[in-house]
Amino acid sequence: MVMKLSQSRIYLSPPHMSGNELSFVENAFRSNWIAPLGPNVDGFEKEIAEKVGAGAAAAVSSGTAAIHLALSLLGVNRGDKVFCSTLTFVASANPILYQGAEPVFIDSDLESWNMSPRALKKALHEAALNGKLPKAVIVVNLYGQSAKMDEILTICKEYEVPIIEDAAESLGSKYKGKASGTFGDFGVYSFNGNKIITTSGGGMLVSDDADAIEKSRYLATQARDPAPYYRHSVTGFNYRMSNILAGIGRAQLQVLDERVQLRRNIFDKYFKSLNDLSGIEFMKELSESQSNRWLTTLTVNEEQAGMNVNQLLDALYKENIEARPVWKPLHLQPLFKGATYYPHENGNSVSERLFKTGICLPSGSSLSGTEQQRIIQCIRDAYSNGVDLKLQEYEV
Ligand SMILES: Cc1ncc(COP(=O)(O)O)c(C=O)c1O
Repeated sequence: MVMKLSQSRIYLSPPHMSGNELSFVENAFRSNWIAPLGPNVDGFEKEIAEKVGAGAAAAVSSGTAAIHLALSLLGVNRGDKVFCSTLTFVASANPILYQGAEPVFIDSDLESWNMSPRALKKALHEAALNGKLPKAVIVVNLYGQSAKMDEILTICKEYEVPIIEDAAESLGSKYKGKASGTFGDFGVYSFNGNKIITTSGGGMLVSDDADAIEKSRYLATQARDPAPYYRHSVTGFNYRMSNILAGIGRAQLQVLDERVQLRRNIFDKYFKSLNDLSGIEFMKELSESQSNRWLTTLTVNEEQAGMNVNQLLDALYKENIEARPVWKPLHLQPLFKGATYYPHENGNSVSERLFKTGICLPSGSSLSGTEQQRIIQCIRDAYSNGVDLKLQEYEV
């Protein structure tokens, strides 16, 4: 495969610093708060909780760690079941395995791409009949889009199953006026390098249950009991965020609204420039919600477009543009072979269809107009010229 290296690389979603991060980091250096925890951690937790309207927040080393802590707090253990959206990054479900529990995967619905309330209802109904309800449901908000939380909350309430909202990708999004990530018993954000704001690596666990968040801090610092010597009665983790990284996060949080607007503008430009192409369909925005449009995603209908999504990925790759297929559903991953899966309806697996046809376009908030035009032109050229060869096969 030939890639044009003469053109500078366009990344999918690179970090975008505001310029103010160094002043927080310098402050930490000046006061020698280098070691874990410190004023930036306390400040970042308070500021995030205020921003999203959650009762409390705990800053941790990653979004994955935050999900793991939430599962621990909900008492998930060996032999328990946990339901999880199937169309997501593996990090949503790995912590289920850390706890020795069994994941059960729930399909997407076509409108939101997120957990299908219909499939969830069926799965919970069957679990109740079998006398083995899950200990938790992990609902993921993909690419900035909120899941249909009203329906999902109603169903979970009926069966009294707690919700962990994986909002790793949806910080800054809103659903019916309320911040994404604040609907479940626990919410999780990620500050990984590719997220809408970043601490280079980090995460946040939020909840209205301040006692649970306090307990998460205890679990995240090796579960050290209050005693004049080192005393431990439960298994803990080393999951806290450092004071240096929290400083980066505080500066990034100051520009979150701006970053959301920039990513929404990027989506609008793609939409206006490409929506006339037959066979292209952009991810919709749920009514009464506002997505942060973390990544602009669309599907390509091969029959109508005359090309498939793999060919489009190749065309972009050759122009030194990083695009990505939509997440491969977890029930199709070798890691989860044999796991139970509930499709949206019998014979209709929405997530599998989205994986086969979906693509994520570069959407970083620092993407320049010229760079975006280069991406748009590459896609339009691929359409009008046709694609010569199917150069790369993605396993389906
Ligand atoms: C949907 C989803 N869940 C969880 C995570 C895990 O976050 P982290 O990388 O901070 O562990 C990510 C991103 O990395 C994600 O995209």
